[in-house]
Amino acid sequence: PVLVVDFGAQYAQLIARRVREANVYSELVPHSMPIEQMLAKDPQAIILSGGPASVFEPGAPGIDPAIFDAGIPMLGICYGFQVMAHELGGDVDKAALGEYGKTMAVIDEPSGMLEDSPHEQDVWMSHGVAVNKAPEGFSVIAHTEGAPVAAMQDESRKLYGVQWHPEVKHTPLGQDLIIKFLHECAGLANNWDSKSIIEDQVAKIREQVGDAQVICGLSGGVDSAVAAALVHKAIGDQLTCVFVDHGLLRKGEVEQVKHDFVAATGIKLIAVDASEEFLSALKGVSEPEKKRKIIGEKFIRTFEQAQRQVIEEAGAQGKEVKFLVQGTLYPDVVESGGGDGASNIKSHHNVGGLPDDLKFELIEPLRTLFKDEVRAIGTELGLPEEIVWRQPFPGPGLGIRIVGEITQERLDVLREADAIAREELTKAGLDRDIWQCPVVLLADVHSVGVQGDERTYGMPIVLRPVSSEDAMTADWSRVPYDVLAAISTRITNECRQINRVVLDCTSKPPATIEWE
Ligand code: XMP
Repeated sequence: PVLVVDFGAQYAQLIARRVREANVYSELVPHSMPIEQMLAKDPQAIILSGGPASVFEPGAPGIDPAIFDAGIPMLGICYGFQVMAHELGGDVDKAALGEYGKTMAVIDEPSGMLEDSPHEQDVWMSHGVAVNKAPEGFSVIAHTEGAPVAAMQDESRKLYGVQWHPEVKHTPLGQDLIIKFLHECAGLANNWDSKSIIEDQVAKIREQVGDAQVICGLSGGVDSAVAAALVHKAIGDQLTCVFVDHGLLRKGEVEQVKHDFVAATGIKLIAVDASEEFLSALKGVSEPEKKRKIIGEKFIRTFEQAQRQVIEEAGAQGKEVKFLVQGTLYPDVVESGGGDGASNIKSHHNVGGLPDDLKFELIEPLRTLFKDEVRAIGTELGLPEEIVWRQPFPGPGLGIRIVGEITQERLDVLREADAIAREELTKAGLDRDIWQCPVVLLADVHSVGVQGDERTYGMPIVLRPVSSEDAMTADWSRVPYDVLAAISTRITNECRQINRVVLDCTSKPPATIEWE
């Protein structure tokens, strides 16, 4: 793999994705990982990420300088570049002029990772520290007003560094630099694409499963659908999907999932209506984490019960279902701090927290993948657009979109409001611009309204449209006013008890996408 060493930047994950987009497999590792461990991964190249610190601050995160002698092509970006310059004897100091945002870079030597690059170009900067003098053996290949050394390279040692952020879209030629570094400087081949990921995973799943029975919890979302399709390709009828209706689904969802999924894949599907059990377990609970735990636990119990049916239908009496497929993605793994290591069951996001006494072994074929890769694989596997481009919907469903206790009546109101919002957004052609739009019921808040000349005392609905690349960070979507107006009018007209519609205009961070 290409290792992306994380110095605590919000950019490290983005770098890992850009490397994959350049058709090379990448993994994130913390900078604190001992270098023997890094080298044991047999990295073909190493990229040092940016980070919030200054190299000369006490306690600044560093890396064992022996890594620079390991003969592995390396690219340092921003802070990672400064670490490289500092460790190898360059002059790194507070910048006379900090540069933040769009900056003009002058390419003095269009070679190596900047081969054939235009003499002047816009780049995205964020630095208050600068490399004033490159270490011995390096040539300076670009500068900016505030960075005398904005890019440097030592082609004989295959060490490269750049002050700006090639991984962000605001650096228009950034991906070009990354591609040149990977393919030309480091000599890496294209080996990461949907086809090879599928082949790889299919072989792994076959080996892991043998002739055992497997179930997959289908949520109707992209991840579980793609995970199921992948496992199905590997082991065919040994897989049964279980679709749990927990009573917290959206309008029309049960029918849609049953229909779309089965029609597209031909996978065996058992639908279980467990809504009453879920709702009674959730009675009186309004604390979000508690809701998630209850829902996660109930999911598993439902799978365990579905087991019997699966075994019977498979004619495998006397056997047990050994494996459970999960659509866990790489960001879930990284976000829960498990970026490098054995599976940490607590962190699983998909079903909102698995119980400790889980009886199944997990199969997680998407564990190393980002959402865009999952969508590409889904397409490659022949899943229809309706599934592949579905917006994310959380496993705990509407249960975490009612702030307050979950009741049937509140669910009915929210379900209706959500259907209206989705309908209008689709009608406005915004489905692909918007990552997702949670619709949230603030069930314990009441405000005064006037509807049909009468005073009402109703609940507010929150619209939370967000744009995002991977749900790790998000911005609120600038949905056109007339679309918002249409949604608001319809919700207040058609949903009794709702007399106010409000827009959540907060990014993530500081807020999360969901309210609970
Ligand atoms: P947050 O609210 O953490 O959400 O910003 C990030 C993304 O994850 C989805 N989400 C979940 N998905 N099970 C899921 O399958 C969950 O428990 C869960 N919680 C949040 C959320 O919809 C968003 O896309």
